[in-house]
Amino acid sequence: MPAFSSSAPGKIILFGEHAVVYGRPAVAVPVTEVSAKVTLTPNPRGQPGELKISAPEIGLEAMLADLPAENPLARAIRLTASALKVSHIPAAGLRIKSNIPVASGLGSGAAVTVALMRSLSAFLGQTLPDERVSALAYEVEKIHHGTPSGIDNAVITYACPVYFIKNKPLVRLKPGRPFTIIIGDTGIASPTAVAVGDVRKAWQAAHDHYEALFDSAGAMADSARKAIENGNIELIGPLMDANHGLLRKIGVSCSELDRLVLAAREAGAWGAKLSGGGRGGNMIALASPDRADKIARSLLEAGAARVIVTDVS
Ligand code: PMV
Repeated sequence: MPAFSSSAPGKIILFGEHAVVYGRPAVAVPVTEVSAKVTLTPNPRGQPGELKISAPEIGLEAMLADLPAENPLARAIRLTASALKVSHIPAAGLRIKSNIPVASGLGSGAAVTVALMRSLSAFLGQTLPDERVSALAYEVEKIHHGTPSGIDNAVITYACPVYFIKNKPLVRLKPGRPFTIIIGDTGIASPTAVAVGDVRKAWQAAHDHYEALFDSAGAMADSARKAIENGNIELIGPLMDANHGLLRKIGVSCSELDRLVLAAREAGAWGAKLSGGGRGGNMIALASPDRADKIARSLLEAGAARVIVTDVS
């Protein structure tokens, strides 16, 4: 029996993080410069159900049976097997390789889950349609995020730019013109569940104020969708700046993110903002392709741990 592999990209949220948890629209795009790959290799000498999991980047080496039920990998495996009505998975080694930084807003958890579900279903001789993969990955996202909107599993499953509203059919976006995004990593790991939980407490304490902030973020995502589809790239930068201002008011920026956002703007970006859960993780900047290198250098000089340049097309 051959080995079965599947890969899934990272992602960034261009507009609407946090507000999307409260039913407002958001825009996200895949980042193919980073990815997670999961390979299942049959072990003919093992007992059925004996699954050895190794994820060298996070120092994990364990048997499935020894992982707690709420472990995201264990949950992804069990959800997939039960969706495919398989009670005994043949013995195998499951290897996870990912260069997506963890807890940094690039969707590492969802990418591992999606790649795992697809490689495991292929290993079991079946195919899970994309809607099922995304829906099952959403269940695993609950472990990572607490109360996820579902945007990460959606954009990573479909691997295309998306306009997303929680519990509504996904809209695939076709940019009218390609554009370049520079991603700067603060190097600070920031679990999304913590930021999302803090925003929820703040929303409960000042409901109307936060609802108004979320409405503004939603309106920006709507304007950005039109600008992207119509190829009016020059309109996107100011919207990113405004969205970053809102995210600061929502309380999810930090001095390191603000510093990188400022450095990108000073180096000639058309706009910049934090991306994802915030409090660390990544920021993004929009610029003309010929400025991308200069902005990348400025971000590194301003303290970015690493920079990725990606084209959205
Ligand atoms: O995974 P992250 O850090 O990109 O965060 C996802 C975006 C949030 O809106 C903060 C949470 C969610 O589930 O949508």
